[in-house]
Amino acid sequence: MNDDLQTATSPWKRRFFVLFFLAVGIPGFIGLLLAKRFGEDVPVDYASPAEHFKYGSTGGEHEMGFPYWIWRALPEVCPQYLPGKGYRSLGMVYEKNPDGSERDLPVGTSKRRYQGIDRVFVNCAVCHVSTVRTAADREPTVVLGMPAATFDMKAFETFFFRCAADPKFSKEYILPEIERQGGELDLLDRYLVYPVAIAIMRDRVLALAGRFDWVFKQRDWGPGRVDTFNSAKVIFNFPMAHLDPREFDAPADFPSIWRQRQRKEPKEMQLHWDGNNTTVEERNKSAAFGTGTTPPTIDLGRIKRVEAWIMDAEPPPFSQFFSVDLSLAAKGAPLYQAYCAACHGASGRDFTGEHVGQVVPLTKIGTDRRRLDSYTYTLAVNQATLYAGYPWRFTHFQKTHGYANMPLDGLWLRAPYLHNGSVPSLRDLLEPAAKRPKAFYRGNDVYDPVKVGFVSDKAQANGKKLFLLDTAQPGNGNGGHEGKSYGTELTPAEKTALVEYLKTF
Ligand code: HEC
Ligand code: HEC
Repeated sequence: MNDDLQTATSPWKRRFFVLFFLAVGIPGFIGLLLAKRFGEDVPVDYASPAEHFKYGSTGGEHEMGFPYWIWRALPEVCPQYLPGKGYRSLGMVYEKNPDGSERDLPVGTSKRRYQGIDRVFVNCAVCHVSTVRTAADREPTVVLGMPAATFDMKAFETFFFRCAADPKFSKEYILPEIERQGGELDLLDRYLVYPVAIAIMRDRVLALAGRFDWVFKQRDWGPGRVDTFNSAKVIFNFPMAHLDPREFDAPADFPSIWRQRQRKEPKEMQLHWDGNNTTVEERNKSAAFGTGTTPPTIDLGRIKRVEAWIMDAEPPPFSQFFSVDLSLAAKGAPLYQAYCAACHGASGRDFTGEHVGQVVPLTKIGTDRRRLDSYTYTLAVNQATLYAGYPWRFTHFQKTHGYANMPLDGLWLRAPYLHNGSVPSLRDLLEPAAKRPKAFYRGNDVYDPVKVGFVSDKAQANGKKLFLLDTAQPGNGNGGHEGKSYGTELTPAEKTALVEYLKTF
């Protein structure tokens, strides 16, 4: 009886299992595979904090990431929109692998596998790392935390917008280039993932191009500068076409970001060029927008690693590259104490001083007003709403009326000088504005140890045309920071001694 039942039911049982397997098991298995393939969210991580700073993720790949192989292919697909060969021609820095070959991605870019595709985007280092050469025929040294003096941000943005609008931005041109470079795409990538990614990226970049239209209407910033807060207005969907024209053309020099702890303790300094924010953490999160992150996609854990590192990161000393005349520097020290220390700190390491981290009104400092005017009260109010509902909502942004007295650590690497990078060298800054260079070239990484600044009278470097900054253009004014208390009335010998002392910062 039992046996009979067994034989009678077992085909049903078997069928049930087969059906179950077909209906649930296989889709479930495929689902798991797809989930694994498309559900991952895994950045490439680095154990060393310095490597993390150069190549680690801040989360920008989520929304803005370029599929890795598209990023690799574009300079070859659209070479006509680049000033030279590859991203290097935009002033991005490439390091070498241990075997001497060039790394696949430049400093300042990170990689993350997200939704089934490796994606690339920029991080903090794209604007806060650069190179120095002691002579044109010497190898460059990569310096972390210095302003990205060679990186042309506007040319970088323009490249992608132009390339995405080009008929060649299609799978017919991009996929063969990926193959030529050795990109081993599997079947799913080749026939589904990459064609869809190309179409999506084209739409996204073109949609963004509409919002960034104002960028194309601005005068070129040249390497080492960005219009910080007009870019932020785009994020808030400000009606760019209707803003006061005097808010535009407000290029800001990339700053250095060493020794943040001393800018926070014992007293929080008012920083950013116009001193619009007093907290290091808010400046960092605000900066993270520059790396494509938004409130839901920001990778706070990984930004924390960068924050922790820049707290105590230090600039390399001038003396590691060139010699300093210490007895001459000793003559400059008392001049610095007498004229500069109250505003800029006791030295390049000791930032104590009565007015350090405070704002000098524009009427007194007299430097170009565009950057100050570009940061409006309305923008400050909007920034306060940005992270509304998050515990790290911005509460410290404020509209100011001048520029901040900042510490001068690593000063030699911060050329060209002033918030708009309008004065090529320290020696020039000590002249009254009428005697400062009216036009000079930006973007060279060869250093001039006498004037203390990058070489600025050569039209080319590394076979590349450099950018001519014309101080007569709006936003580029080189006036201000002049008069007795700013050292411009010292004798030539005193100025030489003071510059020698500033080499020790
Ligand atoms: C697109 C280029 C860009 C990127 C990317 C960028 N920054 Fe900056 N950063 C700037 C500019 C420009 C300023 C100066 C802003 C101003 O006042 O106009 C600045 C200012 C700062 C300051 C304040 C410096 C001071 O002394 O006033 C800090 C700190 C900073 N950035 C950290 C970061 C961190 C951390 C990241 C990554 C999360 C980052 N930045 C990403 C361009 C950038
Ligand atoms: C009353 C305060 C004050 C005094 C005194 C002063 N400075 Fe400044 N300094 C400033 C301010 C404010 C800025 C920012 C101006 C700007 O960028 O528009 C500045 C900017 C600078 C910069 C540019 C920094 C950079 O990263 O580009 C240098 C260099 C500098 N000062 C050196 C000096 C020296 C040297 C002296 C003394 C001879 C001096 N300053 C005296 C307030 C002062």
